[in-house]
Amino acid sequence: MTTFGAKQSRGYDQRASRLLGGLYRRIAADVDAIAQSGACVLDVGTGPGELLAQLGSRRPDLRLHGVDLSPHMIDLADAKLSGGAVELSVGDVAALPYPDDSFDLVVSSLSMHEWPEVDRAIAELARVSRPGGAVAIYDFRFLRSAAALSALRRSFEAATVRREAVRPRRQPIGLYTRLTARAA
Ligand SMILES: C[S@@+](CC[C@H](N)C(=O)[O-])C[C@H]1O[C@@H](n2cnc3c(N)ncnc32)[C@H](O)[C@@H]1O
Repeated sequence: MTTFGAKQSRGYDQRASRLLGGLYRRIAADVDAIAQSGACVLDVGTGPGELLAQLGSRRPDLRLHGVDLSPHMIDLADAKLSGGAVELSVGDVAALPYPDDSFDLVVSSLSMHEWPEVDRAIAELARVSRPGGAVAIYDFRFLRSAAALSALRRSFEAATVRREAVRPRRQPIGLYTRLTARAA
């Protein structure tokens, strides 16, 4: 499995800050709409932490956690979020470094298409979700969303699984999809 190195992580951070602001704002608005006060939220494959930064300023009551396979990405997120109360960890979605039933909401943006074993990864998202907790995975709509949808139906309450198109404001074409589910 390849991970983002130091140079690649810095390059990604610069491009993402320039190009993906609309997507992060859209995801932060979605989280804002569903997260209860004081909810515990995990961002999986957080990268340089831009989504966590948006969430922290929009909802300072949330208890935010971020995990990423790349220690370089976690270093960048740490620098961006310093002074905040976000907890960051290096870890693999296939073996998340958290106990069972830890989070009210698990979110992920543009990371799922890099997970080598989507079934195993989504079983981990279910394991760390509290009963009644939610998962929301945002990614490019043409990358692996059918496989992820089937995996969500196996690991979460099948009747709650949804796939919707997501178009951030001022984005002319629909590039993204959101997969959501609720834990039993
Ligand atoms: C394209 S970046 C997206 C980063 C960020 N979520 C965003 O929206 O800007 C994909 C991220 O997923 C992380 N990633 C890839 N495979 C992973 C895995 N197995 N476990 C945890 N993180 C992973 C990468 O290290 C990278 O930081």
